[in-house]
Amino acid sequence: MHKSAYFEFSTDFDLAVIGAGVVGLSIAWRTARRGLRVVIVDPDPGGGATHASAGMLAPVSEVTYTEEPLLRLGLASLERWPGFAAELERDSGLRVDYRTDGTLDIGYGSDDMAQLDDLAAFEETLGLRVERLTGRECRKWEPMLSPAVRGGLLARDDAWVNPRRLVTALCAALTRAGASFVAARALELLPEGVRLAEGVLRAERVVVACGARSPELLPGLPVRPVKGQILRLRGPGGFLSACVRGRVHGSPVYLVPREDGEITVGATMEELGFDARVTAGGVYELLRDAHELVPGVAELELAETAVGFRPGTPDNLPLIGALSPGRYVATGHHRAGVLLSPVTAEAMAGLLTGETPPALLDACDPNRFLSLDSPTAKGPR
Ligand code: GLY
Repeated sequence: MHKSAYFEFSTDFDLAVIGAGVVGLSIAWRTARRGLRVVIVDPDPGGGATHASAGMLAPVSEVTYTEEPLLRLGLASLERWPGFAAELERDSGLRVDYRTDGTLDIGYGSDDMAQLDDLAAFEETLGLRVERLTGRECRKWEPMLSPAVRGGLLARDDAWVNPRRLVTALCAALTRAGASFVAARALELLPEGVRLAEGVLRAERVVVACGARSPELLPGLPVRPVKGQILRLRGPGGFLSACVRGRVHGSPVYLVPREDGEITVGATMEELGFDARVTAGGVYELLRDAHELVPGVAELELAETAVGFRPGTPDNLPLIGALSPGRYVATGHHRAGVLLSPVTAEAMAGLLTGETPPALLDACDPNRFLSLDSPTAKGPR
């Protein structure tokens, strides 16, 4: 992972971004492109939730009944993804494996199919483009699917990207843009910048983007860790061509293919604080359900297990904006950090350079949960 020795304690920066996950790095990149002197502070860039994410850009397939504002935000960000990926590949000289080959949402049993039918009807009322497929049509689209699959929905507009390549490309683009990295943990926000174990890093503006760890710097921020376990399987290139999601007797699972033959299988959703254990039960359930949908996974190498902590909020919408003059936050992206990175980064880069945030971001006001007498309440947007 990229770490740089550029940092000197005597340097003043326009902006310090705390957290080198996909959200923090994207904000840093878009802001550095506007000419600000940017430093990114993280003991392990790309090592947080991004490391365990699958990189699905799937606002349609991941829509849930009560979350239309999140859907609208996701669709707006999905629209930005082709330009974001192309520009990043140009700036970094690296590929991010951005794929638009279609996402299949599979129903395994008749109970799962009934749920999918309801979901399709809901998606249609929202004007989303989904196609209902029979089991045979699903297998034509993705031949590795089990003969037992009853049917599914095809979301042609949903896409995916390799999140680890994304982090590498963002770090490379940032280095080319002259940004600095400090491999350290931020201990405290100060009026003049950030306190690290090594001393004070001076920065005019600070964005806290360290995911589920953000409340350590902003006590009271309503963000909690939602544990996810994932697996990485290694097989021949082209084992799967589509991104396959599914429900197997009510239990959700997804399989996301990479161009090098790797498949990310995810993910559990567990409210267990920062419990970083990979459990036998978690691995068993993921493999069991993945195997029901795609029996051939049994032949693949189990290359890695990993745990990440999604930053969850009470309403599942992120917290993006200013808390007080010079203090900003961008976290709480829960299951959609990779998807929402372009829209978050664009809004934050605008805000940091004096623009009015887009109306789309109103629902993400970070002050919406803060009580009126809180010191961080009523900050400027
Ligand atoms: N967006 C997939 C997940 O959070 O598991």
